[in-house]
Amino acid sequence: MALETPRDLFVHNLKEMYYIENQLVDMLDELASDTPDEKLAKGFESHREETRQQVERLEAVFREIHETPDASGSGALDGMKQDHEEFKREVASDDLKTPYHLAAGIKTERMEITGYQSLITLANEIDFDGDVKGPLKENLDEEKDTLKTLTTMQKGSNIKNAIQNLL
Ligand SMILES: [Fe+2]
Ligand SMILES: [Fe+2]
Repeated sequence: MALETPRDLFVHNLKEMYYIENQLVDMLDELASDTPDEKLAKGFESHREETRQQVERLEAVFREIHETPDASGSGALDGMKQDHEEFKREVASDDLKTPYHLAAGIKTERMEITGYQSLITLANEIDFDGDVKGPLKENLDEEKDTLKTLTTMQKGSNIKNAIQNLL
C-alpha cells in the first residue's frame, strides 16, 4: 500500500507495533523460562501478561479507526530474534543468559517506547480522540515502567554478582 497521508503512516506503524507485541508474547515466554536469575525471570513473566493485554488494546485501536488488525512485520524485531538465536547457538555458560536477556529486554522496551511515542504524536496531529490515544498511552506507560524495572535491575547487586561469579 502506498503511504501518502499521516493516517496511512499511523496505520502502517500500528501494524508494525501489533506484529512486535504479538511476537513478544512468545519471546517473553521463552525468556521467562530460560533466564537463570529468578527475579528477572519473574519480571519477564509478568510483562508477558501485560503484553497480552497490550495486544488487545491495539486491537481496540484498530476497531476504533475501522481498520483490520494485521501484523505487518518488523525488521528491527526480526533482527533481534536472529541475534538471540545466534547467542543461543554460541553461549556455553547458562549464567551468561541473565545479563544477555536483561540487555535484550532493555533494548526491546526502548524500541517499543519509541514506537508508541511516534504513534501518539501522529494521533495528536491527526486529531484522533481519546479512544485511540488512551490505549496507546496505557501501553506506553507499561513499557516505561518495565524499562525502569529492568534498568534498576541492571544497576542492582544480583546482576553484578552474577557477572562477578563468572570472572
Ligand atoms: Fe509491549
Ligand atoms: Fe514491553
